[in-house]
Amino acid sequence: MPWTNQRNKQLIERARRVIPGGMYGHQSTAILPDVYPQFFTRAEGARLWDADGNEYIDYMCAFGPNLLGYRHPAVEAAVSAQRRLGDTMNGPSEIMVELAEQFVSMVSHADWVIFCKNGTDATTMAMMTARSHTKKRKILVAHKAYHGSAPWCNPFTNGTVPEERAHILHYEYNNPASLQDAFRTAGDDVAGVFGSAFRHDVFENQDLPTREYAETARRLCDKTGALLIVDDVRGGFRVARDCSWSRVDVQPDLSAWGKAIANGYALSALAGSEKARAGAQGIFVTGSYWFQAIPMAAAIATLNEIRNSDYLERTEKTGAMLREGLASQAANYGFSLRQTGPVQMPMILFDDDPDLRLGYCWVAEALTRGVYIHPWHNNFICAALTESDVKLTLDATDQAFSVLKKRRPTLEPPEQLKARFDRLHEATLTAAN
Ligand SMILES: Cc1ncc(COP(=O)(O)O)c(C=O)c1O
Repeated sequence: MPWTNQRNKQLIERARRVIPGGMYGHQSTAILPDVYPQFFTRAEGARLWDADGNEYIDYMCAFGPNLLGYRHPAVEAAVSAQRRLGDTMNGPSEIMVELAEQFVSMVSHADWVIFCKNGTDATTMAMMTARSHTKKRKILVAHKAYHGSAPWCNPFTNGTVPEERAHILHYEYNNPASLQDAFRTAGDDVAGVFGSAFRHDVFENQDLPTREYAETARRLCDKTGALLIVDDVRGGFRVARDCSWSRVDVQPDLSAWGKAIANGYALSALAGSEKARAGAQGIFVTGSYWFQAIPMAAAIATLNEIRNSDYLERTEKTGAMLREGLASQAANYGFSLRQTGPVQMPMILFDDDPDLRLGYCWVAEALTRGVYIHPWHNNFICAALTESDVKLTLDATDQAFSVLKKRRPTLEPPEQLKARFDRLHEATLTAAN
């Protein structure tokens, strides 16, 4: 069936009448090439189908939650069993305790865990716990790092007031001197320091945390009594079977989790060490759906796969295959790619592409050939992706490079597209300063 997006266009038209802007946030097609579908019908393994019936090999994994493969059999079986018993009740099912026990047994620094729904819930709770524990105010976050959409951390400032970010100070990720400066500026008032699993900022090369940076963060927190917080919402269980900073042997006091922990079911978590327990106990946090049993059943099944399968090694293998294949194709066609970060969470950017037009056109060509890759956000590889999926992907990307090469001299993204990009860049930068 030839690629088409008629139904998607109709749905967007209808959505515009009843949903502000037709869509919000990172799902908005306003920030992706126009050919990108906004609506999806179903998903299975490493594939998904849009509202027009087009099939894609998926490299976004629902922006992270799909770790093992969409509709993973063990997770779905656990979900079906729990659905027969109940989901939203007056309180949690007893499986919440089992899940918490499993979680703390897997995350080295964790002695307790609080479950919630979105990553933003977990990062906001981390901030509150740090303030409750220290009775101090300042929170240090890395410049451009994303920690959610609440007013204190929203990268877009519209609808927020400066007072909501009054005690948020910025430092440069992986730069110990800059972190030290931020501590100096904050005086004796630092409640917590956020560090992402690794640097995974939009539009930028990715970077793993250096040992020196992570150790400096730990040392400065110990010296001042501040809590060290790792935001593992995106990287959690994708780079390690423990907290991501275990790879540099640094244990935080708090870690925020979400996305992959229930393989797509709505669950996030704040985990903490003994030291932070009283601080966490002292804050009031809740939500109507935080105690749902189905996502917890899904999480127990997901953690079981994380402990007992080679899911991580498989994503590293297919990720490496993709990276090598793309690098050699790019070289063949005379392009230079910057593929950074862990191979299973690849950021794919073109060199000499300041307004991202090459990347935009390349992913759009791959999309209409059945491959869903993001042009400026890190991608994700799930454990259901096979080597033959990667080969099919590389067939599509080879054609996409070939089109790009032919059209390169006249390549001009629509003016509107460039304007959108410029606004996004500007908003991201303004918000982070
Ligand atoms: C590192 C990180 N922290 C926090 C969040 C917020 O998570 P959520 O969108 O589930 O609120 C995200 C979401 O992308 C994230 O990547």
